[in-house]
Amino acid sequence: MKDLRLDRFLADRVNLMAASEIRELLKITEGRKVISLAGGLPDPQTFPKDELKGIINKILSENGDRALQYSPTKGIGELRSELTNFLNCRGVPINNSDDIIVTSGSQQALHIIALTLINPRDYVVMELPSYLGAINAFRLSEPNFVGIPLDDDGMNVDILEARLRRLYGEGKTVKLVYTIPIAHNPAGVTMSLQRRKHLIELSEKYDFIIVEDDPYSSFTYEPSDTTSLKSLDRSNRVIYLSTLSKILAPGLRIGWIAASKEMVDVFERCKQSLDLHTSTFAQFISLEAIKSGVVKSVIERAKVIYKRKKDIMLEALEKYLVPGCWWSKPVGGLFIMLRLPREDLNTSKMLFEAIDAGVAYVPGGSFYVDGSGANTMRLNFSFPKEEDISEGIRILSSVVRNHL
Ligand SMILES: Cc1ncc(COP(=O)(O)O)c(C=O)c1O
Repeated sequence: MKDLRLDRFLADRVNLMAASEIRELLKITEGRKVISLAGGLPDPQTFPKDELKGIINKILSENGDRALQYSPTKGIGELRSELTNFLNCRGVPINNSDDIIVTSGSQQALHIIALTLINPRDYVVMELPSYLGAINAFRLSEPNFVGIPLDDDGMNVDILEARLRRLYGEGKTVKLVYTIPIAHNPAGVTMSLQRRKHLIELSEKYDFIIVEDDPYSSFTYEPSDTTSLKSLDRSNRVIYLSTLSKILAPGLRIGWIAASKEMVDVFERCKQSLDLHTSTFAQFISLEAIKSGVVKSVIERAKVIYKRKKDIMLEALEKYLVPGCWWSKPVGGLFIMLRLPREDLNTSKMLFEAIDAGVAYVPGGSFYVDGSGANTMRLNFSFPKEEDISEGIRILSSVVRNHL
């Protein structure tokens, strides 16, 4: 077969499509005896397989003709109504199911936001670090990223204010601020209520949109205030995203956006051309799983499992890691961020050595839009088995020692 030289045919935007470092990693580790602290996968123990069997049988026998058919782009009405109740119970006030659009995971929601709201060179604020999937989705629209550091109280909103003032002084306007305020991925921190209120005030003063991404608020391990930005919003400028991926099953690919009806209508137009609609069958399954209390019981079970695994990882870090390393003490979510003692250490370069030694992680650099973070890594504690967490950290520590 002759070589086609495919690069001659590729659109320029392919260059903007960074291969997800996590997905590439999962490929490398496939079939090898490696303890993976890399992905963000839920523990399969939390999947309610028996309950889902019953739900699927019921759907197919009672409602199979609808569940296997095409359905509205916005999502089936029953699921949007159920999500309205679900969100109201979570403290995210939604008046009308028309303010919700069901998406194929919240990853698609991020893509829809990139396509409908971001023009090339628009200023888009991201936390340092931020969720890699959001960075990659937004990058396709060629924004100017502005990175704002995080600390234990979430995004440093005072620094954001100073940056906004400076940008506006230069005649530039910020279009959108993306944040994961509760149980951040990858930092594990929650934004303080005072900062959440301050962020809302800034959004009004400087006229930008806030994208509030909330996959993890069900997994907080310490009593914390989870007041949503959406509930503080007085001017319809918060776009709220969430997903069933971590609280039911990611394979179903069910996420959603809650925003003003006007915005949701634009998102609907965009989604029409992306995939017509989210899997009807998966929507029916999700509807039943929420209605029958299965999602609630997954949350309760998973929260106990994840808290225990987090504690095991924190203990192992304390036991094995060399002095000078810093790691986050997550108040929620599924991740711990680790920083090595020296700026010149590069966790990307260290990765292959780590995989050969038997452990994988995600190098932290790709979570930072300003190119920093090369000496950090993200460690996941939800997926590995309890007995592997400590061993994985022991191996990791010996790899780190080789570089000091
Ligand atoms: C912050 C954040 N947003 C969005 C997503 C995407 O989730 P989904 O599986 O619903 O596409 C994830 C997945 O890990 C995430 O951590």
